[in-house]
Amino acid sequence: MLGKWLGKKSAPENDETFTAAEREQLQQFRIPGYEGPLPAAWFSRQGQQARLSLPFSAGPQVLEKLQQDAQLGHYQWQLDCQVEKLPNSQPELPLIYGNVIVISSGKGGVGKSSVAVQLAVALAENGASVGLLDADIYGPSLPTMLGGADEKQQINDQNKMQPHLRHGVYVSSLGFLADSKDAAIWRGPMASAALQQLFRDTAWPRLDYLIVDLPPGTGDIQLTIAQKLPVTGAVVVTTPQNVALADAEKGIAMFRKVGIPLTGLIENMSHYHCPACGHEEAIFGQHGGRKTAESHQVPLLAQLPLASPIRQALDQGQPLLTAEPQHPLNAAIREMATAVAAQLYQQAKKPV
Ligand SMILES: Nc1ncnc2c1ncn2[C@@H]1O[C@H](COP(=O)(O)OP(=O)(O)O)[C@@H](O)[C@H]1O
Ligand SMILES: [Mg+2]
Ligand SMILES: [Zn+2]
Repeated sequence: MLGKWLGKKSAPENDETFTAAEREQLQQFRIPGYEGPLPAAWFSRQGQQARLSLPFSAGPQVLEKLQQDAQLGHYQWQLDCQVEKLPNSQPELPLIYGNVIVISSGKGGVGKSSVAVQLAVALAENGASVGLLDADIYGPSLPTMLGGADEKQQINDQNKMQPHLRHGVYVSSLGFLADSKDAAIWRGPMASAALQQLFRDTAWPRLDYLIVDLPPGTGDIQLTIAQKLPVTGAVVVTTPQNVALADAEKGIAMFRKVGIPLTGLIENMSHYHCPACGHEEAIFGQHGGRKTAESHQVPLLAQLPLASPIRQALDQGQPLLTAEPQHPLNAAIREMATAVAAQLYQQAKKPV
């Protein structure tokens, strides 16, 4: 599995080269979220063993594509992901939090928390060490979506809160902390202070990624939170309706104004997936997310269908990825995770 290669040098000494035709084929190889060909140095081989070494998290679909390739599939492929810590918006803070990705939305109910949860679980499934911070002070929904809402987070000897390990992800949420009746107390001017405490005073393990579920909207609270965290990239979640897109545009403008890199846009409930016959329908209109992404020059990282198994699983405190790992709807979720990680990396490496 992935872990086997962790800690090993990614370039073995007696590397053999690929044939000219194979190198050409590797130039054509694409990863979701990564624009253009991958650097040739990321591919290596020794005899029949071939390897793709990535500095970001990627899923087994990437490996499968290589294994199924007509020209390259005869090699025994391995995928080696060693997540690189990328620069963030607060250079003076330590990098122990890994790459911090804030998940935001212009309005509530578009599936921001669902996306945050599924992104975190998919990245963890790929072998990354992932934390999930519930910054939605108004409506912490992560305990519901990940289960264990009745458990409370414990305080350790160093006076830090132990995150809950749920579905492979380290989760810290006000929903695990205070009585739900007390949640109202945290609102208003205290919200950003409460969040910073949750961020700093959680005993996070060494993380590759920290996913932050921001409160919905583009007001002062979102701005303060985004500015106080060491953000590597921001993801804006929207649905295809015009009202949601208009709010998503405000989100894009907000991050641009404060210089937080926009990793991209995720269109949730992009089309309806009929469980009976599998037919798909654009009930909220077509191409909305794509048009907004194009006109604002933001990558469109994923389009997730509106599908009842996704909601049912989350309602039961278990994302579809772990509830039914083989479910065909998971493909889009896994692809989204690779796309976010790949685009986050590529943007951070872009010469400015
Ligand atoms: N792609 C989807 N398909 C079906 N239901 C979804 C999908 N995304 C979210 N939901 C459901 O929609 C509701 C709102 O999602 P949620 O993530 O809580 O939104 P937000 O955090 O933006 O307020 C939840 O019941 C969730 O399970
Ligand atoms: Mg939410
Ligand atoms: Zn149908």
